[in-house]
Amino acid sequence: MSRVVSSSEYLTPTYSNRLMSATPTTFGDRRRDGKRTRISKNEIPENQMAPKVAYRIIHDELSLDYNPSLNLASFVNTWMDEEARKLANESINKNIIDHAEYPMTARLHKRTINIIAKMLHADYNPDNPDYPKDAFIGTGCVGSSEAVTLGLLAHKRKWQIRNSERLALEPGSRPNLFLGGAYQACWKKFYIYFDVEPRIWRLDENRYVLTAENVKEAIENKIINENTFAIGLVLGNTFSGQMDEIKEINSIVEKLNAETGWDIPIHIDAAGGGFILPFTRPYLEWDFRLSQVQSINLSNHKYGLVYPGMGTIVFRDIDVVPEDLFCEVDYLGGSPMKDYGLNFSRGSYQVVCQYYNFIRLGRAGYKNIMDNIIDNAFYLAQELCHFDNFRLVSDNDLFPSVVVEHDEREFSAEKLAARLRQNGWFVPAYPLPENARMIKVLRIVVKENFSHDMINLFLNDLEDSLIELKREAQSGNED
Ligand SMILES: Cc1ncc(COP(=O)(O)O)c(C=O)c1O
Repeated sequence: MSRVVSSSEYLTPTYSNRLMSATPTTFGDRRRDGKRTRISKNEIPENQMAPKVAYRIIHDELSLDYNPSLNLASFVNTWMDEEARKLANESINKNIIDHAEYPMTARLHKRTINIIAKMLHADYNPDNPDYPKDAFIGTGCVGSSEAVTLGLLAHKRKWQIRNSERLALEPGSRPNLFLGGAYQACWKKFYIYFDVEPRIWRLDENRYVLTAENVKEAIENKIINENTFAIGLVLGNTFSGQMDEIKEINSIVEKLNAETGWDIPIHIDAAGGGFILPFTRPYLEWDFRLSQVQSINLSNHKYGLVYPGMGTIVFRDIDVVPEDLFCEVDYLGGSPMKDYGLNFSRGSYQVVCQYYNFIRLGRAGYKNIMDNIIDNAFYLAQELCHFDNFRLVSDNDLFPSVVVEHDEREFSAEKLAARLRQNGWFVPAYPLPENARMIKVLRIVVKENFSHDMINLFLNDLEDSLIELKREAQSGNED
């Protein structure tokens, strides 16, 4: 089966004839043979062409993309040092799964996981802080979506094993996953693709995170019960850029597990915040320092500051992942290897780039960058509060995704987003999740390259756009 692509263009092929037809070679006259042939776009062309010509055609078509530096919609990193690019190029032909062929790359992968696991206090030993634990495991993967999936699959399988006798007597029992309403799409993919019952706590109308009170109520109403195989909490949610009440919820779950003997694990989705808080607020406890947190995912390609294509999953203890989920592979040369991952082959350069960032920046470098990003986000948030169209939703002293509610009375948030796009700024407009769907927000993700100066340029364009849209609305020109 071919890979399912997310673009609706692929799922519903509605190309017009004009777009389907072949491309005349723009640079045809400059080819050595002087021929002016047409190149089919959606079928493999009959003949070959010079690399320079192929490059030029594609390069020019890609110039229709928006500029990644102005992509304020996404958390994904868009810039790295030249040296990192150089290393990426040097590793571009290495498959990370080939441990025997590329043992040094495999070592860098291990070091990277060790660094991340320790950053998340996976080596924390509450019984004796002088003797750190070394039972944690983890792996790099394609992104946080794969990492979340690996975390939840392990918990689901563990629940099945732990409850096998009861499940034999109650064949109708279905595993359920408890999470707050502000979850990212990858959680939905998990509960649909892996057939589990989602138990989603709807957001409060004016609070867009999962609170300790919500969890207490869910326990009292048996929404969290013996079939709950995991509780998912988010550090920096997609919609409002806020953090669930992780520490307080951990205490409640600890008590519940002690009283019932259920052993429900907490998985932390730290895709957005996992590389920020360890540097900006190291004393905040949301990671493996909390007793019930069994797994954490992060996106290296967000604030880990590497190019797209890497996430990480870390488990507190090797026992969290049931043995039968590891697949042994013995046909790659070298000694047999155990693997837990959804993919097999994948690129290795992201791991190399992540390791590069760790040694290049160190703790001090990451802290500098993250403090700077938070300062910039805070500045932007404060400035946005001066516009009477907006109400600030996000907590920007913690997370750099600046989310503002838009007053829809004169013109829509989408209209403002479209106007900003005319100047190259890509800002998404969307409703908050259920229970708060009437609230329309704009989200601006501050990344390393979005400097104080760039923010001021953005604010100028925003101000001009608002003046124009207000003028149009007042003169009745709005369509
Ligand atoms: C909170 C959260 N979880 C999971 C994901 C999915 O991460 P990825 O795009 O790395 O697969 C995202 C992506 O933005 C996210 O914000």
